[in-house]
Amino acid sequence: MVSKYSQAAPVYFGEGAINQLGERVKELGCKKVMCVYDAGVKAAGAGAKAEESLKAAGIDYLVYDKITGEPADYLVNECGTMAKEAGVDCFVGIGGGSSMDCAKASALLIENPAPIEQYFTAPPTFIRTAIPIILVPTTAGTGSECSPMCIITSGGEKLSVFTNTRLAIIDPELTYTVPPSVTANTGLDAFTHAAEAITARNYNPHSELVGKAAIEKITKYLPIAVADGKNAEARRELALAANWAGIAFADTDAHLGHCLADSISKYFHSPHGYNCICVTPEVMRHAANEIPERVKIVGEACGAEFDGTETPAEIGEKTAAAIDALRKACGYKSPKEYNMDRETFLNMTAHTMTIDLGLRINYPGDVDEALCDEILQASYDNYD
Ligand SMILES: [Fe+2]
Repeated sequence: MVSKYSQAAPVYFGEGAINQLGERVKELGCKKVMCVYDAGVKAAGAGAKAEESLKAAGIDYLVYDKITGEPADYLVNECGTMAKEAGVDCFVGIGGGSSMDCAKASALLIENPAPIEQYFTAPPTFIRTAIPIILVPTTAGTGSECSPMCIITSGGEKLSVFTNTRLAIIDPELTYTVPPSVTANTGLDAFTHAAEAITARNYNPHSELVGKAAIEKITKYLPIAVADGKNAEARRELALAANWAGIAFADTDAHLGHCLADSISKYFHSPHGYNCICVTPEVMRHAANEIPERVKIVGEACGAEFDGTETPAEIGEKTAAAIDALRKACGYKSPKEYNMDRETFLNMTAHTMTIDLGLRINYPGDVDEALCDEILQASYDNYD
């Protein structure tokens, strides 16, 4: 079997890395930057830190700070058009996946006519762009700083276009102020990136290596960071883990967990990381029937113990239990506890079967309505 893995954009990692932004922009020969972020990033001061670094390096900049969760296509069109009119020659996306994805998508509109909607295809199109895109994550979750994906909401659905990025600046200190629930949801999102990368049909050994290491770090440090957001060691290890999980699934893509999560997102508007981890124990339990050895890697990395005599079903059970224990240690509440309507939850199969074909076919077995029904029902009914 031939598999492919890539070397992602260079990463500058470490406490205080944000202070190097201006110098890095200068090195790239850029003179006018569009900084893209949201109100939360602004309030936490990460936007100001980026701007101070740009000022110190003598770099001119504009700010687009209207990004929202699950960013809509019109924000990309507005940001991209504003940047083009201003003669911007570099984009810096600061924040979670929404800000970073918006920065990437907006940058595409410098060399390609607006609106962005015309570039959304299934499967997504890769559009190479010359303008440097620098990404600065402020949560330890999406891994968007090392993936080509720009996920944008258009017409009520999450749609994608892919592009190339120039470099990432990962400063764990920017995550210190992330509140416990967001820390949990983003960290568990990263967990699912790694778990789905390891078990993807589109597997490669490099993604297994970094994905396994990411799961080990998340299992050890996420409960600590949720309890104590100022724990520097936990924040540092989680920033690394989220980046490695991002690198893992940038090559393999995610699969059924993210597909089901997109349906949960559409019907309940709950956080992406929550939606993903909500179904992951059951997705892994079923995937063990197809590829038990790879599900076992996920299970071992998150603390399940195996003696080597387990059947595929038992590997699935133990792995699901370990993932459930981890999410509970991070404050996870079941869909029932969240008062999600059971009937709506169980009826999401039809929607799931109409979206994200690329994700569905990346599951290691065949995905049919019965499988989605079973995963949704068990995720709702079988976990407290
Ligand atoms: Fe995700």
